[in-house]
Amino acid sequence: MNIGKARAYTNIALIKYWGKKDDQLILPMNNSLSLTLDAFYTETSVLFTTELSADRFYLDGQLQNEQQTKKIGRFLDLVRHTYDVPLFAEINSHNFVPTAAGLASSASGLAALAGACSAALNLSLSPKELSKLARRGSGSACRSIFGGFAEWQKGDSDDTSYAIQVPSDSWEEELSMLFVLVNDAQKDISSRDGMKRTVETSVFYQGWLNAVTDDLATVKQAIGEKDFTRLGETVESNALRMHATTLGATPPFTYWSPDSLKAMNLVRICRQEGILCYFTMDAGPNVKVLVQKKDSKWLMARFAEQFSKNQLVLANAGPGIEILDSERSLTHD
Ligand code: ADP
Ligand code: DP6
Repeated sequence: MNIGKARAYTNIALIKYWGKKDDQLILPMNNSLSLTLDAFYTETSVLFTTELSADRFYLDGQLQNEQQTKKIGRFLDLVRHTYDVPLFAEINSHNFVPTAAGLASSASGLAALAGACSAALNLSLSPKELSKLARRGSGSACRSIFGGFAEWQKGDSDDTSYAIQVPSDSWEEELSMLFVLVNDAQKDISSRDGMKRTVETSVFYQGWLNAVTDDLATVKQAIGEKDFTRLGETVESNALRMHATTLGATPPFTYWSPDSLKAMNLVRICRQEGILCYFTMDAGPNVKVLVQKKDSKWLMARFAEQFSKNQLVLANAGPGIEILDSERSLTHD
């Protein structure tokens, strides 16, 4: 059997995926739209072999325990079942992104895993097929198959739920995103658990669903017209609406920390100072600030007045998934 190897970049949702209508198939309640970024990514190698009697998963050189291998094990079971492969696998993955900190490691991680499995098994999957496969590992991963802007079309079955490229006339090349790393420790409530609790219990969840379709249409129109203000205003409102749902859940929770609020407030101050920039946040306390590339150095310097330099990472738009040369042997370090 071959070693398959792939690199996938994280994506940050501009219109959030928040809630599933099918937990098993990972079918979302709403369409979402993201920007793939170049600063954070995952590289993963996979080898299916007769020599193993269980899957072995190394993340950043550390053999992962049963609990940490669960998500991956379910995904490998799906691959084995779908493509009729009666073998266990050794997986070596390196996250060039903090794991489980709201910086989308699950998106790059599961997209890279899907790409590496496809390469290891010579499946030659199309981007659409790869997107569907990655979705089964982690919903947001289906968007990391594509560079630039991608839309996950929710569909209503395993076959109709996948991401597509959003035409943009390369506008993403004029945009940047500043990551403000408030805390890169693992969060208490994963996105999977957080969205489940919200769908099941939040009195505000219906409000989210009522607003998200219009938000998506506005963002797509703003991309088509290269209207940064419209894009940013909608992205920021959409993130706030998503986070509002967590406060209406039972028990209520929030991913925000005092430093998240400090970063959000600084974004508002920057706007008052005349620089267009808008924040978004995922299932964690870190804040991501969307800005035009021409203003990104200014923004970085302004944030460096209130945050330390190692808390700030500037990203540009990133490419889609890359299948890598797998000649090199597997390493755990
Ligand atoms: P994040 O905000 O980092 O996406 P999540 O809680 O949504 O956090 O997902 C983190 C989970 O994604 C991890 O606990 C692990 O199960 C999975 N994951 C992260 N990186 C990888 C990887 N490189 N390969 C496989 N699975 C990964
Ligand atoms: C807030 O894709 O990590 O980042 O499908 O359960 O693996 P699972 O969840 P995941 O959730 C991402 C949620 C989000 C918004 C987004 O990326 O769209």
